[in-house]
Amino acid sequence: MSDRPVATSIEPYTITLRPGHPGLIELDWARSIADWTTAHLVDLPRGISRHTVRFVAFEQGTYAIKELPLKAAQRDYETLRRLGDVNGPAVRPVGLVVRPLEDPNGEQGACLITRYIDYSFSYRELLSGGSFGPRREQLLDAFAMLLTELHLLGCFWGDCSLSNVLYRFDAGAIDTRLVDGETASIYDTLSDARRQHDIDIMVENVAGEMADIAAEQGVSIDDADLHMGEDIAARYHAFWRELRAEERIERHEQYRITERVDRLHELGFEVDEIQLVPHADGEHVHLKTRVADRNYHTNRLRDLTGIQAAENQARQMLSDLHYYEMAHSGSLPANRALAAVRWRVEAFEPMLARLAQQIPPIEDPLQAYCDLLQSGHRKQNFTVEYSVAGARCDPPRSTNSSKSGHP
Ligand SMILES: Nc1ncnc2c1ncn2[C@@H]1O[C@H](COP(=O)(O)OP(=O)(O)OP(=O)(O)O)[C@@H](O)[C@H]1O
Ligand SMILES: [Mg+2]
Repeated sequence: MSDRPVATSIEPYTITLRPGHPGLIELDWARSIADWTTAHLVDLPRGISRHTVRFVAFEQGTYAIKELPLKAAQRDYETLRRLGDVNGPAVRPVGLVVRPLEDPNGEQGACLITRYIDYSFSYRELLSGGSFGPRREQLLDAFAMLLTELHLLGCFWGDCSLSNVLYRFDAGAIDTRLVDGETASIYDTLSDARRQHDIDIMVENVAGEMADIAAEQGVSIDDADLHMGEDIAARYHAFWRELRAEERIERHEQYRITERVDRLHELGFEVDEIQLVPHADGEHVHLKTRVADRNYHTNRLRDLTGIQAAENQARQMLSDLHYYEMAHSGSLPANRALAAVRWRVEAFEPMLARLAQQIPPIEDPLQAYCDLLQSGHRKQNFTVEYSVAGARCDPPRSTNSSKSGHP
């Protein structure tokens, strides 16, 4: 933090911003955000929190502002910055406001500014009764994978809970991101003891949250899903084992190296390094892989088409593009990038425009597009383009219908 401007005692605040967010400078940072009346304030749904959180919208984007004691804000900001540097699964930090005239331990000591995650919601939106109904499996997998990814990046969370995560629909899965890093620290690598400590905290937090939910919904504590955290922990261990597995590959089994890389891609990970250590007997090698961020399909889709989507949405859209290429193989340019432009202009964009007119602005058009892909057109070997050409375009409602149980 040494390169930050140091405030003198007469300044009511200092603001440190990452580039590209000019509108934020004009806000009244000397006053508590609880007292703001600026026209930039927007009312957006948010989860339970101890601190005051408000949202502001500008032409360049929407932001979440959290007011909290100085040390916690600094720690949150540093954690989010470091996770952002490695494309980690967390909200992106935009700035930090320090109010040197306030008590640094007081609630108004500082403000953390993060980019608002569009179409995100809290876990409560997924509840049906005292538990998560048909979404439980997806939620648990996503949650376990989030903790695995963070640990792979060396992040000890210290307060992993359902409410410190933001959720978003991601094709047939759920995308999860750390939203609260006040207690987190990043290490070069995490020891097994630290990982276990983090898991223990998660199990306890989740049990508490499930007990609260049961109480609120009038469900008996005996019927509360109090072991959900243990279920998440079991899935976490399975992911960890798979991602860290060292495999023995015989001389005639070279294809297994490709299989392993394909499997990591399938899980969404970019492969950072492959390490092969030959055994003295010359008959086999030991294979180790190191993964980077979990944006494999997101990155491929963006490189090919310029479209920015969540990981599973991107996977599904790439497969739509593939079907399109097959269906038009005679008339498409051989160059993949040019074919992708044709798909985007002729199939994807027109359908997205139609969907955007039919869903409420708070719903994600890309998710609606994926819902449409999933809704059966694929089974008949149709691409979305054919349904555009059809007389009726009646896509399934995406996020809201999904929230109410649409698988
Ligand atoms: N960047 C963001 N995008 C969307 N929503 C956000 C963002 N930042 C915060 N929120 C909303 O604000 C809520 C509270 O944030 P956060 O958990 O960081 O607050 P907190 O007061 O520190 O929580 P705690 O009570 O766990 O200490 C989140 O659950 C989320 O709904
Ligand atoms: Mg929180």
